Amino acid sequence: MTFGQLRLDGVSRSFGTANALRGLDLTIARGEFVALLGPSGCGKSTALNCLAGLLPLTAGSIWLDDARIDGRPPEQRGFGMVFQNYALFPHMSVRANVGFGLKMRKVGRAETRRRVDEALRLVQLTEHAAKFPAQLSGGQQQRVAIARAVVLEPPVVLMDEPLSNLDAKLRLEMRMEIRRLHQTLGLTTVYVTHDQEEALSLADRLVVLREGAVQQIGTPEEVYAQPVNSYVASFMGYRNLLDATVTGAAGSSVTVEGAGVRLTGRGSLTEGPAKVAIRPEDFVVGGGTENALDVTAEIVEYHGRELSVSARLASGVPVYFRTDERLAPGDTAKIGVPAERVLVFEP
Ligand SMILES: Nc1ncnc2c1ncn2[C@@H]1O[C@H](COP(=O)(O)OP(=O)(O)OP(=O)(O)O)[C@@H](O)[C@H]1O
Ligand SMILES: [Mg+2]
Repeated sequence: MTFGQLRLDGVSRSFGTANALRGLDLTIARGEFVALLGPSGCGKSTALNCLAGLLPLTAGSIWLDDARIDGRPPEQRGFGMVFQNYALFPHMSVRANVGFGLKMRKVGRAETRRRVDEALRLVQLTEHAAKFPAQLSGGQQQRVAIARAVVLEPPVVLMDEPLSNLDAKLRLEMRMEIRRLHQTLGLTTVYVTHDQEEALSLADRLVVLREGAVQQIGTPEEVYAQPVNSYVASFMGYRNLLDATVTGAAGSSVTVEGAGVRLTGRGSLTEGPAKVAIRPEDFVVGGGTENALDVTAEIVEYHGRELSVSARLASGVPVYFRTDERLAPGDTAKIGVPAERVLVFEP
């Protein structure tokens, strides 16, 4: 099935009186990789299940180009799905698992063989074709699930936290694998994750959700560098979130005071309470006079090239930063951060 775009128009879903998803508007171009990102319970799976046809909408519509599809049952949408729990058939070999959907569609033997071989080759499981799921590692099972989804050559592949059960190393490998498959097969992928790093590294565009509502839609660069609010910022690694008050503003430069310090940052607030967001890696120890803060190190974690330091301001408010200086607990330090790296939001 070819199409130009998949469009969600005000897609909403409630359970009783609770809105799990509120008015999601999103247009996904063919070939695009979109990640739905947010913490547990924010509505990611709900959105994906609405797309798949596993959950009826309570409002809104879903379109493939000019065809409205939200009334269609899942099998008529023909989307590939990969779930968190791989849901493989335990009594079937890898080959039979991957070929199952083709068999259901009455695809001929030779054609099935060719397509299954190709899918197994793509996920690098050719030599495991005769094994059963229980004889495979978690990552291999995951790849079977992916092969099973892509063998049908679906117009859209939906993945719900497909890597969450894997160990860190395998997760990194599979992440690349998924991106490679997406590119090689020219798939359109909608990928659900609560892991910002996964979303940033995989997706062409991110959709950040909070309590069922979209907070920001943008490229990884946009969402990472210009989060629209402190919620998105905290999700994007701005671990320092300080309560402060705006005391001056000129253009996009904002001065705030809070936690016993004064900082210059950027934002559009001109007065009132504010939330200040700073990434740990944007602080420089000893360096720069801009936004200089005196801190006392409390907990120092070793991260190979860098240390991750949890420190406190004189006011007792915690500050997190990274450094390659060999600091020890109890050490005092002066840390600075460029004003353009200090984001000032409404609280
Ligand atoms: N079948 C259901 N009945 C009632 N409430 C539900 C149902 N499914 C989901 N919800 C609620 O809808 C909200 C969104 O759930 P959803 O499963 O979409 O979250 P999620 O973002 O996928 O979370 P997680 O990261 O934990 O998987 C939650 O508050 C959840 O409790
Ligand atoms: Mg979920």
